[in-house]
Amino acid sequence: MGYQTTCSEIIGYSIIAAMMVVIGGCITLVLVFQPHPPSFRVNSLYVSPLNVTAFNTSTSQITLAWDILFIIANPHKMASISYERVEASVSYKDNFLSSAIIMPFHQHKKEEAAQQVTMAASSQYVNNGVVNAIAADLLRGAVGFNVKVDAGVVRVDWGSWIERRVGVKVSCEDVKVGLWSFTTAGTLLGGSRPCKVHL
Ligand SMILES: *[C@@H]1O[C@H](CO)[C@@H](O)[C@H](O)[C@H]1NC(C)=O
Ligand SMILES: *[C@@H]1O[C@H](CO)[C@@H](O)[C@H](O)[C@H]1NC(C)=O
Repeated sequence: MGYQTTCSEIIGYSIIAAMMVVIGGCITLVLVFQPHPPSFRVNSLYVSPLNVTAFNTSTSQITLAWDILFIIANPHKMASISYERVEASVSYKDNFLSSAIIMPFHQHKKEEAAQQVTMAASSQYVNNGVVNAIAADLLRGAVGFNVKVDAGVVRVDWGSWIERRVGVKVSCEDVKVGLWSFTTAGTLLGGSRPCKVHL
């Protein structure tokens, strides 16, 4: 009787101990192989002169181009990050103006690299309210653009045996460009701007 109790107790404790090792191992794996958000900054931004022409009484056509330099950093000490389909876009308030695809790229552990993106809105239709709002911004010498990066699903690799896939979305809101008139070009105000990154 005593022997049986001891034996089943030993088996019971062994099962509990084994479960704790497995659970502890899982928690450690999740903590160690945790994808961290990469960092994105708008390091420089050039805006071409804006060409605005009236289309009808409520709509205008706007033509302008952006040249944006992002600085992207991989925060992982032990993992690389691969970007496959990255799309950057520019809006003025909620009005989409243009987008561009960034070529796939790979960042090694702790690597920081620049990615340049050029995009253009060509005779894009916008409501006259947008043109009036931009004109009001020009009087103050600064136009803010919302820059977004949809990095899709990135691959975070710890060597060849553990990888995690995670969606990355980046928003750089109200990135201010010094602009005084529709006919001059402008550049980023206030230096390099960090963006918000969501996993
Ligand atoms: C502005 O755009 C219109 C048509 O969208 C074009 O006819 C005109 O030549 C452009 N002006 C300049 C200065 O580029
Ligand atoms: C002006 O043109 C736009 C784009 O084609 C159209 O959606 C809008 O209804 C037009 N407005 C008027 C007042 O004709």
